Amino acid sequence: MTTSTTSTTKTGDVAAHYDGSAPTYHEQYDEQRVTESAEYPANLFRLRMVAGLLKEAGATSAYELGAGEATPIIRLHEDLGLRIAASDLSPEMVRLGRENLVRHGLDPELLVELDIQDTEAVAAEQSRRGTFDAVLALGVIPHVEDDDHFVEAMSGFCRPGGTLLLQFRNSMFSMFTFNRPTREFILDELLVDVPPGFRDVVADDLDQRLAVHLPPRRTWEKDAPAYDDILARFHNPFELADVVRRHGFTDIRFHWYNYHPTYPMLASRFDPAEYRQAQMALEGDASWRGMFLCSAGVIQATRA
Ligand SMILES: C[S@@+](CC[C@H](N)C(=O)[O-])C[C@H]1O[C@@H](n2cnc3c(N)ncnc32)[C@H](O)[C@@H]1O
Repeated sequence: MTTSTTSTTKTGDVAAHYDGSAPTYHEQYDEQRVTESAEYPANLFRLRMVAGLLKEAGATSAYELGAGEATPIIRLHEDLGLRIAASDLSPEMVRLGRENLVRHGLDPELLVELDIQDTEAVAAEQSRRGTFDAVLALGVIPHVEDDDHFVEAMSGFCRPGGTLLLQFRNSMFSMFTFNRPTREFILDELLVDVPPGFRDVVADDLDQRLAVHLPPRRTWEKDAPAYDDILARFHNPFELADVVRRHGFTDIRFHWYNYHPTYPMLASRFDPAEYRQAQMALEGDASWRGMFLCSAGVIQATRA
């Protein structure tokens, strides 16, 4: 009982956060503002990457879970000619997304309100829409508690042989940040099975070495919970790949974005334009380095 009340509240907070960000959400996909927007436009690089992967896979249709106000899925439709459909938890995202679809000459019913954690509603949406060449969830799994349930829900929209693209916040990035998340990763994940006495000594040592007061909690002016106040989990790429594999997917590949040319606490030592150029120059690097230099990644997999 307590768990379900807590989950409902958390889901409500997530919806309220995205209701609050919905009116300006499209701005991050403005190609003209890529060098001067206040926030680094990481999601624009993600969208470019996803478009490239779908093109390479030869996808002709795609379903997006947690599609926001539909700017990315509309762009994929326009650039790649995909048949699309989508859903999202936030009523305001869905309202604005439907207006967005109409502005682009598309049927507003292509986007519906849906909580991916609601098994019955997901099953009804799956039987209404059928399966697609690709299923996407970008920026969504951080906000849910049950990864298995999430991937199972994605799987139901994907035809056999189709492509899954699943974005996650990368917990390995903490190995390059030298701050509080580094401490948490080492103590709670890496050393999880060592004797408590060893962990205690490491904990004391890390408190001396790391900037454990960082990162600061992000706040915003809006009358809604800020991103750092809602459930927004990081995932270990290897563990998430295991979840994806468990649900019948093969050919698993990682792709990385939101590169950092220094650890974030050093960024203020550089000219912002120079720093952004250095970040952007790294986007698209397909080497192993992304697993440590990137705060986010995308798992690509094929449904068996
Ligand atoms: C970071 S935004 C990403 C939006 C879009 N996918 C994009 O790439 O721009 C995350 C979206 O996931 C949605 N979301 C969060 N939890 C959800 C859930 N349980 N079911 C469906 N959508 C959810 C939010 O409402 C929000 O619009």
